[in-house]
Amino acid sequence: MSLEVVILAAGQGSRMRSSLPKVLHQLAGKPLLQHVIDSAQELSPAAIHVVVGHGADQVRSAFGEQSLSWVEQRQQLGTGHAVLQALPAIGEESTVLVLYGDVPLVSASSLQALVAAAADAPALLTANLEDPSGYGRVLRDADGVFMAVVEHKDASASERAVREVNTGILAAPARLLHRYLPRVGNSNQQQEYYLPDVLSLAVADGVAVHTASAANPLQVMGVNDQLQLSQLERELQRLRAEALMRAGVRLADPARIDIRGSLQCGRDVYIDVNCVFTGAVVLGDGVTVGPNCFLQDTTVGDGSEICAMSHLQSASVGSACTVGPYARLRPGTRLGDRARVGNFVETKKANIGAGSKVNHLSYVGDCEMGAGVNIGAGTITCNYDGVNKHITRIGDGAFVGSNATLVAPVEIGAEGFVAAGSTITRQVATAELAVGRGKQRNIQGWTRPGKTDKD
Ligand code: UD1
Ligand code: CA
Repeated sequence: MSLEVVILAAGQGSRMRSSLPKVLHQLAGKPLLQHVIDSAQELSPAAIHVVVGHGADQVRSAFGEQSLSWVEQRQQLGTGHAVLQALPAIGEESTVLVLYGDVPLVSASSLQALVAAAADAPALLTANLEDPSGYGRVLRDADGVFMAVVEHKDASASERAVREVNTGILAAPARLLHRYLPRVGNSNQQQEYYLPDVLSLAVADGVAVHTASAANPLQVMGVNDQLQLSQLERELQRLRAEALMRAGVRLADPARIDIRGSLQCGRDVYIDVNCVFTGAVVLGDGVTVGPNCFLQDTTVGDGSEICAMSHLQSASVGSACTVGPYARLRPGTRLGDRARVGNFVETKKANIGAGSKVNHLSYVGDCEMGAGVNIGAGTITCNYDGVNKHITRIGDGAFVGSNATLVAPVEIGAEGFVAAGSTITRQVATAELAVGRGKQRNIQGWTRPGKTDKD
């Protein structure tokens, strides 16, 4: 039987107090809606229908590349009305899974179980909460058989005492939604068409509604305001830190790490406080990351050390390298094994060969550097002429003295030697010494200017 997922994302999210539509707010570096889409994708559904309304264009364009079926709900008349908008595109034979765009952490495995239980009758995901206020409550008969969901605003005092709540997530045979959803009315406190009302209509027809309880309340926690968003972020980061530690990673403080993507670590990795990992980051065996580092889409080889305050983006660091403190590796930086990039060094599209050193205060951009090169402090590759970018090539074993200016396109041959303070505009051949600077003159008997006393 084919599975059709419907994600409700038309609400305004007014309590976020933001001009950004709620489902575009980020959790762990990813929009809320993307979390839900990713979990849905794991079930390999025939289609994912996203119901949008508030900020519809903005939401659609944020996910433009993905194959999603967009459904517009012009007026937000309730969750039942929202699902109804998606139904014309859904055949009678399929199973429908309804998810909320603002409930980001529901796991694919709980969804799988819910869908499996919904082959012939609806299945609802519920949760038992310490504080159920605001949620719809699950009403059962004396035998514990599901009867209905009553919204908090419509509930009596005794109904409000119930702690089992509707998470909003449900699966149902499409034919039942086709049959019951058009019959749902809006005579309630909010004058909305409530989706859970299809369940009581089904029960009245003798259909048994299956329920499953979410094991972890975090999975079904919704985001309604910035406070809840930050709580969910901290919970998620805590879980990620715990998973890392269980996998053998040593964290200076599990409360001070942020993983906004995937972080894969080898054995004996140590991560100091306040590091942020975004995109796909891979750290090899024995890697150390110092405090306050930012790593994005970067791979670090075995035994390398990223020292404090370093910023790495789309970089590849070999084994036994040292980076930082205060290094900035921009996209396209590749360090060979045992290379060193020190403090206040910026690199971009730079291939730095094995064992080469750029230890202090340099800019190395658009550069092909061989192995065993030494770049002195303050050296700059002048890669940009105001219009185009040009390449600097530096051969194996070359030595570039401090404060050299390498005006690209330019090449320094293997074992070439550039005198400190040189401006290099022409090729330096293999093992040649290049001196490109004004000659020093010493003037004897020179007298210092004295103080003039004009006024
Ligand atoms: C809903 C449930 C409630 C449940 C709670 C769980 C209903 C009537 N109530 O209440 O039982 O305990 O979720 O969090 O279903 N949306 C639309 N179009 C609309 C209305 C809502 O797309 O016309 C979307 C919202 O963007 C949101 C989701 O549906 O993603 C839930 O809507 P919301 O208004 O937050 O429902 P709750 O009052 O929280
Ligand atoms: Ca809600």
